[in-house]
Amino acid sequence: MNKRIGILTSGGDCPGLNCAIRAVVSHANLTYDWEVVGIPYATQGLLERQTVPLSMHGWDLRGIDPLLNMGGTVLGSINKGDTLASIPEMMASYQALGLDALIVIGGDGSLNIINQLAVAGGWNLVGIPKTIDNDVALTERAIGFDTAVNTVVDAINRLTFTAASHDRVMIVEVMGRTAGHLALHSGIAGGADVILIPEVPYTIKGICDHLQELRDRWKRKFAIIVVAEGATPCLEDLCNGDTCSLENAPSPHFIAPKCGRGQYIADQITELTHHFVDTRVSVLGHIQRGGIPSALDRLTATMFGKKAVDLIAQGTYNQMIAWQDNHVVSVPITDVVKRSPFYVDPDGDLIQTARSLGIYVGDS
Ligand code: F6P
Repeated sequence: MNKRIGILTSGGDCPGLNCAIRAVVSHANLTYDWEVVGIPYATQGLLERQTVPLSMHGWDLRGIDPLLNMGGTVLGSINKGDTLASIPEMMASYQALGLDALIVIGGDGSLNIINQLAVAGGWNLVGIPKTIDNDVALTERAIGFDTAVNTVVDAINRLTFTAASHDRVMIVEVMGRTAGHLALHSGIAGGADVILIPEVPYTIKGICDHLQELRDRWKRKFAIIVVAEGATPCLEDLCNGDTCSLENAPSPHFIAPKCGRGQYIADQITELTHHFVDTRVSVLGHIQRGGIPSALDRLTATMFGKKAVDLIAQGTYNQMIAWQDNHVVSVPITDVVKRSPFYVDPDGDLIQTARSLGIYVGDS
């Protein structure tokens, strides 16, 4: 039976989204002879009942398929979670557009929304995980994370040489929201000396002691510090030695900062070392979301896109595609949402590996 499949990208963009769209279109067209339409700007486009036709090899006059290596999303996206009030209107749009199923490519925020849509019923929904934060539960991979890690590693490589040339401490602030996966993976791979993540509280004294040890023991006058945007100081640092709890912490900014953590740490190092340590801060920002998708992200996106179409062929819905134990599987979106965001295990292999390499990852 012929089907009409809708696809949309929701939440912050990342490299690899277009690869997933490409795989969905190719597999649906070639294997099942189904029509695939894109819904621009996520749920906003759905509410407005907009579609764009998607077909294989239809993007370039010469027949080159740019979706394979183009960053961002050709469908556009929005990063707002205020669409829940419009569930009846969205469902009416889904029906008016004659969709048999809808594939949503999104991170934990978007998956949360589509879970609530799924609970409301009347839809055939399939989710594909994407996020540079890598904080979607029940999948070992999400589209975009690998490229972002490579982008940060590239930045660390560049900063290492200028740091060494000037005996400076370079602080690299990376994204990740409340999770430290991006900072931890890229910090280890890039050879950072200090990695600060939300899941493992740090002390400024611990950082400064480590910088001093690099000087005393290894004659290293430069260092690289990778700071996750949500990195959290230990309570004592947060309260400047006074007894306090998170509830009466100086400012909510410290609990879930969106940016500025790198400069905050630089200022504290300067203060504690009485200007002895020369710091510079690089905030990588949305550079981490751009660029050409890595080979691994292309592969992940392609396999996820193919699996999403197969699920629809089987009539299996309200599932998210996941990578587990080297297999592409599907898991109920409800289960994913219950366990997300997924955080770094403070006692896990990565933290232990970092510490065994002499990297400061919070006071142990
Ligand atoms: O969730 C992905 C992410 O890039 C986070 O790492 C970051 O905190 C946030 O999105 C930035 O969002 P925006 O693009 O809305 O500034």
